[in-house]
Amino acid sequence: MKPIQVGLLGIGTVGSGTFAVLQRNQQEIARRAGRGIEIAMVADLDVERARAIVGEQIQVVNDARAVIANPDIDVVVELIGGYGIAKALVLEAIAAGKHVVTANKALLAVHGTEIFQAAHDKGVVVAFEAAVAGGIPIIKALREGLSANQIQWVAGIINGTTNFILSEMRDKGLDFDVVLKEAQRLGYAEADPTFDIEGVDAAHKATILSAMAFGIPVQFDKAYVEGITQLAAADIKYAEQLGYRIKLLGITKRTDKGVELRVHPSLIPAKRLIANVEGAMNAVLVQGDAVGATLYYGKGAGSEPTASAVIADLVDIVRLIDADPAHRVPPLAFQSHTLAAAAGALPVLPMAEVVTSYYLRIRVADEAGVLAQITSLIAGANISIDAVLQREADEIGGEGIAQTDLIILTHDTREGDMDAALARIQALPSVLAPITRIRKEELN
Ligand code: HSE
Repeated sequence: MKPIQVGLLGIGTVGSGTFAVLQRNQQEIARRAGRGIEIAMVADLDVERARAIVGEQIQVVNDARAVIANPDIDVVVELIGGYGIAKALVLEAIAAGKHVVTANKALLAVHGTEIFQAAHDKGVVVAFEAAVAGGIPIIKALREGLSANQIQWVAGIINGTTNFILSEMRDKGLDFDVVLKEAQRLGYAEADPTFDIEGVDAAHKATILSAMAFGIPVQFDKAYVEGITQLAAADIKYAEQLGYRIKLLGITKRTDKGVELRVHPSLIPAKRLIANVEGAMNAVLVQGDAVGATLYYGKGAGSEPTASAVIADLVDIVRLIDADPAHRVPPLAFQSHTLAAAAGALPVLPMAEVVTSYYLRIRVADEAGVLAQITSLIAGANISIDAVLQREADEIGGEGIAQTDLIILTHDTREGDMDAALARIQALPSVLAPITRIRKEELN
């Protein structure tokens, strides 16, 4: 049978990895797929560089629409990224009856509902294993391997850049700004790292995981997003002393009231396997009612790890290309006509309704009664304290007052109640600096 014909839109890091792995492993891939997979056409603005990667045998153009218009192309692989031209091209490819493989988490988290609907109407597949956690087959696991379960929660380290930065901050006791510069020098962080360090990339991925875990539409606009830019080396050190590591987690949880969808730095017990995921690696922990906890670990980015996911999608498409579209695996794991109703029953909760526990670092005047004042405000908000750590006075302030850090760990409470308590504590004259609040997840 004629190999399936693939058109690549963009041949940067992931595209060149896809080309290399398809060439190197072509026989085994064809044995799995039941048919060869051939890159027949490549579109890239840098035609010369693209040609240097794929050689003279493959048609290289600088116009992505020429790939979409080519009737011989069966599958379009979108590796451009972003919400702009990529969205138009994906929708045009679908309209032209092409199956689509994309690594574009931003596009799917924001415009997924429109894109999946268009693909459904046209009877084509939109596959996106590479969009979340690179080479880790977490999409496949959620969509197929765990389909017996009611998923209770998913928590993931799903941004390698920030995990690399946090690991370096902990190892070397350095502040965020210093480590970010080093990460940029080493190529772990981009020149403009905003999407990574502000948590946006992780929130795109968490949005997709949330939709797949609970059978609701993608709702990036409802995600709570907080990055790692405000984290101080002191907090990482104190967390360590209390038996915790700080990680940027993407969390989505089913509760009686709805779904939590949030990305923020989190203390997690150092003894958990996921707490020991270091450097640029990714890991996703999924809790299902039948299976219990399952953990998926691997490279979340990079040329061949991400290509591994792209090619797995191509193999799936080859296997199912002749199937009746109604019998294909639904992209978000649940039958698409059920998503909207589920969104009504399981709304994404505002952050004030999220229930979690907290680490607080409060810079205070080291005077009699300060601890009692603070703990009584916490108790007054009906928040239960788990542990208190007070360091020796470490600094003499301008008025000759000794200062210290008071560290408080709480039990679970509503975020709205914690906000109210923190506003009252912050207003105390003995509180000398903005309070640091980091959420804490036991993940058990
Ligand atoms: N920039 C991402 C990360 C990889 O650092 O994990 C692509 O999503």
